[in-house]
Amino acid sequence: MATDRIPRKVGVVGYGRLGQSLVSRLLAQGSELGLELVFVWNRNPGHMVGSVPPALQLQDLDTLEGRHPDLVIEVAHPKIIHESGAQILRHADLLVGSPSALADQTTEQQLLEASHRWGHAVFVARGALWGTEDINRLDALGGLQSLRVTMATHPDGFRLEGPLAAAPVGGSRTVLYEGPVRGLCPLAPRNSNTMAAAALAAPSLGFDSVVGVLVADLSLTDMHVVDVELTGPPGPTGRSFAVHTHRENPAQPGAVTGSATVAAFWRSLLGAGSPPSGRGA
Ligand SMILES: NC(=O)c1ccc[n+]([C@@H]2O[C@H](COP(=O)([O-])OP(=O)(O)OC[C@H]3O[C@@H](n4cnc5c(N)ncnc54)[C@H](O)[C@@H]3O)[C@@H](O)[C@H]2O)c1
Repeated sequence: MATDRIPRKVGVVGYGRLGQSLVSRLLAQGSELGLELVFVWNRNPGHMVGSVPPALQLQDLDTLEGRHPDLVIEVAHPKIIHESGAQILRHADLLVGSPSALADQTTEQQLLEASHRWGHAVFVARGALWGTEDINRLDALGGLQSLRVTMATHPDGFRLEGPLAAAPVGGSRTVLYEGPVRGLCPLAPRNSNTMAAAALAAPSLGFDSVVGVLVADLSLTDMHVVDVELTGPPGPTGRSFAVHTHRENPAQPGAVTGSATVAAFWRSLLGAGSPPSGRGA
């Protein structure tokens, strides 16, 4: 990547597994890639002490404009997008790492309006979704008829809310939810991001028609498994076009994010951080 241009200034919101990985890569490789880390914000600032240079620690997210970021990447929680997404867009492009936030139509509308008003772009990290471009192309051609995304892992990897948090997990494999992705996002905001990314990649179906399935599987102690099943239109013989991908991603026990997804986020950051002609997250 070119280094003879003004570096793009990047701010990171969230300093958990993804945030720590992105920050250490930005500090180690940012300058040669034309990216400059200008701040890191975390809900608990104490977690940054000793690993984020003090000058880069941002204490109050409402003061981020003082760091003049070009791009802010959210890797914290969908709540941040609900509460601060539109405000961030006033000052910078935004790479959404928790796209389940966009299942909320008010939030989606606020981001669209802020993006148009302030001329800043919204990117969505594909995260653990395999085949994003293929889904998007089929959708754009009008050929996507159904899309179903199943996410299975050990229940320790879930951060569930409302009725799902109290749902009993019986037997080795329990289907906790099966239905429109829009209904799942508020109940599993941190475990529905792959499904939300699929709904955004397939706007003809969207959050109301892409089906999300969340499965608790006691055998998957160190793995996140994502199955994507889609169908297209019938061919001349009447048989329908169909694709099924099965992604097994090693993960630390209890982690929300699998190992390969950390690398996918870095690629998304590079895509969103490049000049407009070469973008894509
Ligand atoms: N798009 C995808 O496919 C995909 C894949 C993996 C993770 N994610 C999402 O990315 C985000 C970060 O993932 P991670 O693995 O780094 O998680 P993590 O649990 O390791 O870290 C989350 C960080 O955000 C902070 N945080 C948690 N709740 C918060 C809140 N309500 N307000 C502000 N800060 C809060 C925590 O203190 C922590 O620093 C999560 O929302 C996760 O669901 C998306």
